[in-house]
Amino acid sequence: MPSGHVVCVTGAGGYIASWIVKLLLEKGYIVRGTVRNPDDAKYGHLWELEGAKERLTLYKGDLLDYHSLREAINGCDGVFHTASPVTDDPEQMLEPAVAGTRNVINAAAEAKVRRVMFTSSIGTVYMDPNREPEKVVDESCWSDLEFCKNTKNWYCYGKTVAEQSAWAETKEKGVDLVVINPVLVLGPLLQPTVNASVLHILKYLTGSAKTYANSVQAYVHVKDVALAHVLLYETPSASGRYLCAESMLHRGDVVEILAKFFPEYPIPTKCSDETRPRAKPYKFTTQKLKDLGIEFTPVKQCLYDTVKSLQEKGHLPIPSQNDEPIQIQY
Ligand SMILES: NC(=O)c1ccc[n+]([C@@H]2O[C@H](COP(=O)([O-])OP(=O)(O)OC[C@H]3O[C@@H](n4cnc5c(N)ncnc54)[C@H](OP(=O)(O)O)[C@@H]3O)[C@@H](O)[C@H]2O)c1
Repeated sequence: MPSGHVVCVTGAGGYIASWIVKLLLEKGYIVRGTVRNPDDAKYGHLWELEGAKERLTLYKGDLLDYHSLREAINGCDGVFHTASPVTDDPEQMLEPAVAGTRNVINAAAEAKVRRVMFTSSIGTVYMDPNREPEKVVDESCWSDLEFCKNTKNWYCYGKTVAEQSAWAETKEKGVDLVVINPVLVLGPLLQPTVNASVLHILKYLTGSAKTYANSVQAYVHVKDVALAHVLLYETPSASGRYLCAESMLHRGDVVEILAKFFPEYPIPTKCSDETRPRAKPYKFTTQKLKDLGIEFTPVKQCLYDTVKSLQEKGHLPIPSQNDEPIQIQY
């Protein structure tokens, strides 16, 4: 399939998208990436990727500018729609996530692309206070919009409305849509800046988090997320939604693993809430993706690779073995 195959990746300079672009180039695809300002030095890492000079073009594309998306997508066989704000600020989140997704689908419909891959989130799946405790979370589950709104979880709210409107719009326009719902993504960064999901770990190493929360979170490796995107794109029989997750940890487990690998950092040892019982993980299944051959990287490796990458990129000083644990001011 890849030879001469043209695909567009929206938000190409982002954490997950950069890994998707890398993999697509390695497989021989011709890649058009949309970014908000192609001249910005922060996209320099994309030009370092193997095959980029020959087969990557960056287009100026804003999610709220339909014509910019139309120009990048016109002539493409497929689209990976990954761009989205990642924030709980409703003003920044909602319009680009929802109207932006609609714009991408409409541009893809006009260009008659073969398939749109949409990077959704576990946030569109698990935020449901009425789910039975023993229920195994799978692709049939949807977050409760009222609950997201009442708890001011505007990221989950925006992603849920965006995914729902993607399904409605593609049905109406006859576009083939496949959705991937990753949990919190970790692993090496290609881009020079620290994105929100990696910050989730960085704060435990710098001394800025004095305690850890009494909560649970599922994790997945960024390379597995990129691989799943491309695999689903290339599998004609793929359809619907695909949960993408390795395993779930309590924050207490996260700090314990980090402290074992990296005892030189001031990693918190106290929980911020010692009154309520320890939060319990919910059950979930990723069988649908595993049936296509995806093997997930163990979560300990995700954590290790994230910290190593933060050190290599200069976001985290490497203390010498003899130093006292350091407090880093940010
Ligand atoms: N990381 C995770 O844990 C995780 C988990 C589940 C789902 N996801 C989803 O995966 C996708 C990528 O997330 P990420 O973690 O890779 O985040 P990221 O590094 O912050 O990348 C987001 C990208 O979206 C672009 N973007 C934001 N607003 C835009 C707008 N108005 N117009 C055009 N582009 C815009 C940004 O472009 P600029 O470069 O111009 O800022 C950036 O490249 C998102 O859809 C997110 O919801 C992420």
